[in-house]
Amino acid sequence: MSLMNSASSSLRRATAVAGPSSLARRALSTSAPRALATPAGDLSSSQPASSKPQHMKEFKIYRWNPDLPTEKPQMQSYTLDLNQTGPMVLDALIKIKNEMDPTLTFRRSCREGICGSCAMNIDGVNTLACLCRIERAGGDSKIYPLPHMYIVKDLVPDLTQFYKQYRSIEPFLKSDNTPKEGEHLQSPEERRRLDGLYECILCACCSTSCPSYWWNQDEYLGPAVLMQAYRWMADSRDTHGEERRQKLENSFSLYRCHTIFNCSKTCPKGLNPAKAIAAIKRDMAFGPPKSDSQRQVIADN
Ligand code: SF4
Ligand code: SF4
Ligand code: FES
Repeated sequence: MSLMNSASSSLRRATAVAGPSSLARRALSTSAPRALATPAGDLSSSQPASSKPQHMKEFKIYRWNPDLPTEKPQMQSYTLDLNQTGPMVLDALIKIKNEMDPTLTFRRSCREGICGSCAMNIDGVNTLACLCRIERAGGDSKIYPLPHMYIVKDLVPDLTQFYKQYRSIEPFLKSDNTPKEGEHLQSPEERRRLDGLYECILCACCSTSCPSYWWNQDEYLGPAVLMQAYRWMADSRDTHGEERRQKLENSFSLYRCHTIFNCSKTCPKGLNPAKAIAAIKRDMAFGPPKSDSQRQVIADN
């Protein structure tokens, strides 16, 4: 039974709090340009934070508690002085949790865009809270979990299906030519063909911004998992490319991608899953490149 059908009734779609019109707006805005981790203008100031005037900002955060399943999700407001808060949205969330409301629940670990845990929807954009600078100008900020996912609690989406799909593509080297001794070597050029693919941190920002994935996530693998499928097809050491392609030869796993490009616009690591998907489709249609040197480099734009 699929996750969609078997998911506990206590899990809710992240969009449950939004009405139809706001749902449509968020669906369209998940790939808008976002604030990346560039230094805030006033960070260079030598003035101590405690002596700066207050700069208050309101954060409206999606809350839902599985222990109170009859209560609807709601947006809860917290107001912080930005001059007493770190520059990133994750800093604000940690400050709220530490000093205002320990029940606020979200995932985080590395706080530097490596682990992928803090993926969420910030002001309509799927991104990493630790790489998203707090917008100092402008009004309040709205923070939701990744859209169209079942919710475990507050900002924590249920990624069970996402990881099940990742496991399905066998994300590891499969080779019939393993050397008897020593390492399995690649030339620098062969290694370069993995650039733009291996850097993915599986944060799921891209898959949860993809309309095809929203409507078909039981069967469509989505951009993150497909890009990883291509990462192994493009690896000169892997000898199971044909088998990997055959597994995608059905109407849902791959071909639900309609080249909408939300995935590539929203990726907080600047990767291009739509290009990797296009490369798989080309290989499926015309056969894989005769030699590795003919393979398109995904990192080249
Ligand atoms: S391609 Fe980008 S957005 Fe998608 S999972 Fe990987 S790092 Fe995240
Ligand atoms: S290009 Fe494909 S995978 Fe990316 S958002 Fe569009 S439909 Fe989804
Ligand atoms: S906390 Fe690891 S990517 Fe944000």
